Amino acid sequence: MSAVTRTLITGGLVVTAAEEMLADVLIENGTVVALALPGRQQWAAERVFDATGKYVVPGGVDAHTHMELPFGATVASDTFETGTRAAAWGGTTTIVDFAVQPKGASLRSGLDAWHAKADGRCAIDYGLHMIMSDVNESTLREMPGLIGEGVTSFKLFMAYPGVFYSDDGQILRAMQQASETGALIMMHAENGPAIDVLVEQALARGERDPRYHGEVRKALLEAEATHRAIQLARVAGSPLYVVHVSAREALAELAAARDLGLPVFGETCPQYLFLSTDNLAEPDFEGAKYVCSTPLRPKDHQAALWRGLRTDDLQVVSTDHCPFCFKGQKELGRGDFSKIPNGLPGVENRMDLLHQAVVDGHLTRRRWIDIACAAPARMFGLYPRKGTLAPGADADVVIYDPDATHTLSAATHHMNVDYSAYEGRTVTGRVETVLSRGEVVLDRGHYLGRPGHGTFLPRSTCQYL
Ligand code: URP
Ligand code: ZN
Ligand code: ZN
Repeated sequence: MSAVTRTLITGGLVVTAAEEMLADVLIENGTVVALALPGRQQWAAERVFDATGKYVVPGGVDAHTHMELPFGATVASDTFETGTRAAAWGGTTTIVDFAVQPKGASLRSGLDAWHAKADGRCAIDYGLHMIMSDVNESTLREMPGLIGEGVTSFKLFMAYPGVFYSDDGQILRAMQQASETGALIMMHAENGPAIDVLVEQALARGERDPRYHGEVRKALLEAEATHRAIQLARVAGSPLYVVHVSAREALAELAAARDLGLPVFGETCPQYLFLSTDNLAEPDFEGAKYVCSTPLRPKDHQAALWRGLRTDDLQVVSTDHCPFCFKGQKELGRGDFSKIPNGLPGVENRMDLLHQAVVDGHLTRRRWIDIACAAPARMFGLYPRKGTLAPGADADVVIYDPDATHTLSAATHHMNVDYSAYEGRTVTGRVETVLSRGEVVLDRGHYLGRPGHGTFLPRSTCQYL
């Protein structure tokens, strides 16, 4: 435990989803206690950071990560220790990871296993969602108990038959339970059975390179599943959060539902905003680095996603951080794209890439903080403890230099993965200092965090409802 009880951050531009103001920020015992006009209060503090010329923003909330996720024949390469450290380097101070129900087992056993992986290892605070691989009488009965423990969101898959897949009846039943209990259903919306047919046909034609992963997982099959999920949620009277939206046709389904006033929400990820099928088509199997599901889309989908973020048809940008090394992991799919483990690294890059979007004119500063901090905190029951800077909030604070430039690269990143999906991309803006509940985790290139500082966050239900 640090001896420092009072920290003062002076002179920065405080940016939250709601406002921007030059202010001093006073932190006491891990909590923000006051903001005041610069220099107006003569606060005494043991530790002072001068943030003149910098932004002072809430720590990022990444609501979609997969540390240590078993996938096919392998396991995602970041542990809770390495992944949360990398998150902190990138200005993220909260993650919400996905516990997985092993098929045929209970939700409880999956949740306990995830607690065991994370407990005592995280550098920053974390919450857990629950992946339901097996919706049945017994697992449906378990849902209220988990909600009581602060696991208030449940991911279902319309993809991956035989693995995570739920059929429409199972989905409807889980949604009915969500509607009764206040849980939020998170949906991986792709028509898995149809995709499996196209995979089989592509392989039979000898189409084996990574780019075919993008071709068989068609935008229309994302849109169809999104539409179906929305209608099922309407029938059940439950809210719906669609994860990793990549296709403009799927976004159009969300927008139409929201125009009807339905409680339907959407998330996209940096890879869909900054990368495209051009990356999937990179030669010499390099495209495998970009295999994830939903897949990357042709570049012209990006404008629709940026627009969706501006118009609030999409509320959240999370990373779906699910790293697999190129050597030995992505390589499992050489000669058969369907065996490439699905997922991209990115937990360290999200805040910077979205700040770059501010520089490029896609987003305002406040919208940057909204989609990266406030909205995910609200969506998953963590606001205002997380996601904002206000008296009473946890002192999860990032001092951000908006003018510093740096180049994203596997040579310098901290994620436990041997490539960067953004290799060589120079971004404007850089994390300078990171506090997690008032403790300094990172300061001017020096990592000061420790495994076990981060604690489990029991969450309330969705605060958009
Ligand atoms: O390709 C992905 N997205 N891998 C992680 C699992 C998932 O579907 O989110
Ligand atoms: Zn998914
Ligand atoms: Zn995911």
